[in-house]
Amino acid sequence: MSEKIKKIGIMTGGGDCPGLNPVIRAAVRTAILKYGLEVVGFMHGYNGLYHNNVVPLDLDAVSGILPIGGTILNSSNKDNLFAYPFEEDGKTVYKDVSDVGVENIKKNGIDAMIIIGGDGTLTSGRDYARKGVRVVGVPKTIDNDLACTDYTFGFDTAVSVASEALDRLHTTAASHNRIMVLEVMGRYAGWIALAAGISGGADAIMIPELPYDINKIADAIKERKERGRKFSIVVVAEGAKSKSGEIHVSRVVDDSPDPIRLGGIGAVVADELERLAGLEARATILGHIQRGGTPTSRDRILSTRYGSAAVELVMSGKFGNMVTLKGDEMSYESLEDVIGKNKGVDPDCELVQMAKGMGICFGD
Ligand code: F6P
Repeated sequence: MSEKIKKIGIMTGGGDCPGLNPVIRAAVRTAILKYGLEVVGFMHGYNGLYHNNVVPLDLDAVSGILPIGGTILNSSNKDNLFAYPFEEDGKTVYKDVSDVGVENIKKNGIDAMIIIGGDGTLTSGRDYARKGVRVVGVPKTIDNDLACTDYTFGFDTAVSVASEALDRLHTTAASHNRIMVLEVMGRYAGWIALAAGISGGADAIMIPELPYDINKIADAIKERKERGRKFSIVVVAEGAKSKSGEIHVSRVVDDSPDPIRLGGIGAVVADELERLAGLEARATILGHIQRGGTPTSRDRILSTRYGSAAVELVMSGKFGNMVTLKGDEMSYESLEDVIGKNKGVDPDCELVQMAKGMGICFGD
């Protein structure tokens, strides 16, 4: 199989994520220096595949990008070519234009595609694999919620940024006897909230997998107050749900394959806790700060391993798969088995049980 591969294409889709550039760099360097391949990139995710927006990726193009956040190929979390929006008679109609992408791949003489993205991007990656395109996926999301891999790149950076934010919020909390609430990302999974909460010494952690009763969080804060600790730190995932199932939608992005954007739960939780616990409260939304900027060294290493392993999968002809990390081993799993399965926090897992054992309240 490997002798037939002469040229590969790379694409980044979905929200940006620390580590995208190191993946691109590792893939390009491995492809060129180990296998003598030619490499090109499609700009702006599937938008570039549709419009044939291609750039050459040689060694110079990836020089110096290792520590830089974002992606030199730009990204888009819209542009699903299997359901692409067109305006017709004042109405939006969705058409399958995926064949345009197949044509553009052929037109550029590309033998295989490395598609870097989260569930939405890799869903189209799987669908292109089903159409016969030679695809290898690389798992990207700060949320760490993609199935079949232990860790996605970007997660470690997000957790580090959130932990530092918690350290800073601690000083204000302690100086003013306040409840400080930090809202972090995590639409369907509480990995960032859980890890940052443990690393940053939170008193309460609220995650989507453990629906909360706000009274229980308030009671835990009141108990601390009675013990003389007159401040508390609360981390809440944007997708945390109350026991009645309430979530907080900040906007709907109509032309996105996953249109719901969450946000705002932190302010609501702060107001409720101020009223119930009798301490002044403030909310901070960390937002895209946790997704931007330079990757941690751990993420740089993981991204580099993913990028290099993606080229190895291409060269061994293992198409239709996503590169994975299992324990400390690089491996792979069929995209068919990855897509549509959210990897949430198991409420019985060691981290949650340990946190509960040392008095961190989840409100469940
Ligand atoms: O899935 C990654 C993610 O960062 C989520 O944690 C967050 O809900 C979402 O993307 C934000 O998307 P956008 O950049 O479109 O606001």
